[in-house]
Amino acid sequence: MAATDLERFSNEEKRNLSLGGHVGFDSLPDQLVSKSVTQGFSFNILCVGETGIGKSTLMNTLFNTTFETEEASHYESVVRLRPRTYDLQESNVHLKLTIVDAVGFGDQINKDESYRPIVEYIDTQFENYLQEELKIRRSLFNYHDTRIHVCLYFITPTGHSLKSLDLVTMKKLDSKVNIIPIIAKADTISKSELHKFKIKIMSELVSNGVQIYQFPTDDEAVAEINSVMNAHLPFAVVGSTEEVKVGNKLVRARQYPWGVVQVENESHCDFVKLREMLIRVNMEDLREQTHTRHYELYRRCKLEEMGFKDTDPDSQPFSLQETYETKRKEFLGELQRKEEEMRQMFVNKVKETEAELKEKERELHEKFEHLKRIHQEEKRKVEEKRRELEEEMNAFNRRKVAVETLQSQSLQATSQQPLKKDKDKKN
Ligand code: GTP
Ligand code: MG
Repeated sequence: MAATDLERFSNEEKRNLSLGGHVGFDSLPDQLVSKSVTQGFSFNILCVGETGIGKSTLMNTLFNTTFETEEASHYESVVRLRPRTYDLQESNVHLKLTIVDAVGFGDQINKDESYRPIVEYIDTQFENYLQEELKIRRSLFNYHDTRIHVCLYFITPTGHSLKSLDLVTMKKLDSKVNIIPIIAKADTISKSELHKFKIKIMSELVSNGVQIYQFPTDDEAVAEINSVMNAHLPFAVVGSTEEVKVGNKLVRARQYPWGVVQVENESHCDFVKLREMLIRVNMEDLREQTHTRHYELYRRCKLEEMGFKDTDPDSQPFSLQETYETKRKEFLGELQRKEEEMRQMFVNKVKETEAELKEKERELHEKFEHLKRIHQEEKRKVEEKRRELEEEMNAFNRRKVAVETLQSQSLQATSQQPLKKDKDKKN
């Protein structure tokens, strides 16, 4: 088909036709549902909140089960992310649920870097997905998607305001994950204080430009409930796995000397609202937002960083092949430049070392000459001393011989004198 024919064909208006009878493609949605059910779903929750704020209890309460958990100590030197994955089943729907705990959050003396491991964890999950997408042989169909779909941010029920750590962390996370802020242990704060606390939190989030997840209002079926629930944020929740008898029913509650706080009683706390919004109404939207908004942003930034773009400076579509070739050339050029730089560096280093060695040799030679001179000087001095000593010894010996001669002469003289006297006497 010629190019012009192709253009005309694609520009042609689509015509509506009516069918003569039932064909069967109206079962497409059912086919989709059945396929999804067979495939199963994955949902990943990140819990951020200080140690002992009630994260594990809330997870157990939300999913009405007991997840394995161990208490964190308050002495972690850095924040550590601990993911645990569980297979859950409700009716015939399988859910691969991953709960990620930010262990040690808020326990360090210096909290400046507390958000970093969390951001890095989220980015790593995006990166893993991107790498799978970029593979030649992709297996996204059975890929275990670990991207975080929602971050439940546990706010301490101080009744005052958010801590700077909360604001900084949420600000760093808001472009990467859907944040649902919740006031934890809401049974420790009175009703009127809670109302003021919620308003304060929301105004602080707005004034600091923190974007939290808004339940979607574009789908008519859930628009009303979602817009009502948006006004209730942040949810004030109570968690408990303990069952208490109220009337003649066993309910999950926290029992105090003065009364019982029922987890699923909407006049006691917002637990039911959270469960409805998170699991029953918006789980799919959270998954979708993660893919279409947060992951898309990560992917775009990453690909742009790698040099890929959709249009060139003249707004012409940019082909992947061209980008690849340009990048390859750039890379090879850079590699050559680096190689040359390294070769030059090596040559310089060798020259430097050679010069250093020569200098060392010269110094050694000088030292040797110096020592040689000293040695010769000393040798000369010793020689002189020896000569002097020899002369002295000779002089001494001469004197000694002279003295000995004199002594023997005088001895002879004295021995001859008495004989002479005797002779004289006889005569
Ligand atoms: P780490 O994992 O060690 O950081 O703790 P966590 O945040 O998982 O807290 P966890 O669920 O272990 O709860 C800590 C303590 O708080 C336990 O004694 C819980 O019974 C209690 N707790 C949990 N939820 C609530 C709540 O809603 N209200 C009150 N008053 N106490 C709660
Ligand atoms: Mg825990």
